Amino acid sequence: MGSLRRSILLLLIAVLAMVASSSASTDPVHAQHGMVTSWHELASKAGVEIMQAGGNAVDAAVATGFALAVVHPSAGNIGGGGFMLLRMADGTTHFLDYREKAPAAATRDMYLDAQGKVIEGASLYGYKAIAVPGSVAGMVYAERKWGKLSLKQVMAPAIRLAREGYELSWAEARDMHDRHLAEYAESRRVFQRNGDYYKPGDIFRQPDLARTLERIAENPDDFYHGSLAKELAAAIQKGGGLITADDLAHYEAKEREPVRGTYRGYEVISSPPPSSGGAVLIESLNILEGFDLAKMGERSAESMHFILEAFRRAFFDRAEFLGDPDFAKIPVAQLIDKKYAAAWRETIDPIHATPSKDLKRPAVFSQLEQYAAANPPAMAPRDSTHTTHYSVVDAEGNAVAVTTTLNGWFGSRVTADGLGFLLNDEMDDFSAKAGAPNGDNLIQGTANAIGPGKRPLSSMTPTIVVHDGKTVMVLGSPGSSKIITTVANVLMGVVDYGMNIQEAVNAPRFHNQWMPDVVNVEQWFSPDTTNALQRMGYTLEVGLHYPSGVEPYWSDAECIAIDEKTGERLGAADFRHDGKAVGY
Ligand code: GLY
Repeated sequence: MGSLRRSILLLLIAVLAMVASSSASTDPVHAQHGMVTSWHELASKAGVEIMQAGGNAVDAAVATGFALAVVHPSAGNIGGGGFMLLRMADGTTHFLDYREKAPAAATRDMYLDAQGKVIEGASLYGYKAIAVPGSVAGMVYAERKWGKLSLKQVMAPAIRLAREGYELSWAEARDMHDRHLAEYAESRRVFQRNGDYYKPGDIFRQPDLARTLERIAENPDDFYHGSLAKELAAAIQKGGGLITADDLAHYEAKEREPVRGTYRGYEVISSPPPSSGGAVLIESLNILEGFDLAKMGERSAESMHFILEAFRRAFFDRAEFLGDPDFAKIPVAQLIDKKYAAAWRETIDPIHATPSKDLKRPAVFSQLEQYAAANPPAMAPRDSTHTTHYSVVDAEGNAVAVTTTLNGWFGSRVTADGLGFLLNDEMDDFSAKAGAPNGDNLIQGTANAIGPGKRPLSSMTPTIVVHDGKTVMVLGSPGSSKIITTVANVLMGVVDYGMNIQEAVNAPRFHNQWMPDVVNVEQWFSPDTTNALQRMGYTLEVGLHYPSGVEPYWSDAECIAIDEKTGERLGAADFRHDGKAVGY
């Protein structure tokens, strides 16, 4: 072949290859054996490395979790908490709660001033916002109980990333400019080089964090019972925080029964309290099962109307009933009962939005009515969108869904002195003001009031979907209350609209959470659709509106499907951020 013809052929091949990869954005990543999807490629690769070294999905999940604490410090963490849902290849399921707990000295009114007003920012920033972290307890528990390798082996990639560093992207360097981080000297030193800010392309090394991770790998009990616990408690107390070494010593991760439901022949396994996620997801799906969404059309105003009304009703119940199950009896069984959903369905006007203030709970279960009469609903706590989710499937078919959080972006912004890791502001997920009317004249309920040793209510919704006895989807996302509607949107995308998992992750999202009585839609909806919804009575906001500006899209669904026929693992990372599915 002449050199000109060979050059033209090579050019043609290169162009075709570009076309193939650019069209891949609607195709999931295909793999035969194992798959990890997470916010950061290096964290996904850490999980795959561990599976290739003989680990199972739990080993990979723990490796990914510790790696995220290094490469995604604004949400990945060892100073926060999370939930892990497992479905093993033999069909057994486990749910691990390592949500943070309020310290023993926490009080119900700790964020109120002398006049009983909520002190702005008090539960969001600084030492008093920190709840007792659970992530290390959870990951160590999971590794010991369900992993195959040693903790040292699975933590090795994270330690390497912390010690050797990784190259910062433009967005990562920008994020570390956070003005609240600058208010805490240790955070300013670690993440902002005392004002000599990191730039895109810089290598970010975290020697303090590497040392802390090595200490955990060497002796995991040190974090809660040893010298690490003492150093952590001393660092928090020096800044005026409440957490003591005793609080750390009393922390424990807890196995709980996952919440289960069905939707159009699929089994949905999800998070129990102290997450509201599973109950709200399944209650919404139960209501929707009675409507032919596929016939109404994907993201038509009609199908969106019914979905929004289902969300509205399930979030109304969230505000009323959900909290820490160790402190109150949470009526999950009634909330996810199909009879209850059928009664809610009857209250939906087919052509008009129901104003949230006019919702009346159907009288199906006397337990719900009695509780509701005594405890008017709580406003959802402020929304934090900064959490992270990752999904793992291994070669045997074990599946793990993990959602983990510091709550706010970089949590409380406090870095423990000399230990190199950020601490959460999970106290903000409690209702700061219980038992008194809030600005909307709603009386706050007590299910999610602050209490010593209590876990704040969460929206984290790691979810596994089963069909014909086989795991077919592993789902989850960050996004606070939007987590639940994001997971529902992805699940319905596959089940109702026949999308592949990547298309379902990509599809525009919409959200209603009862109060405020506003529907949020991502920026990609046509005016025809949004106008039709407005004519039905919805108040619409395009994007999420914050005092600091508008976020045009939200969440970061990091999901996996397993092809029912071929068994292929199909990884779908969310294009809204820089998530990556990595398989082998
Ligand atoms: N902090 C976010 C959540 O738990 O839902």
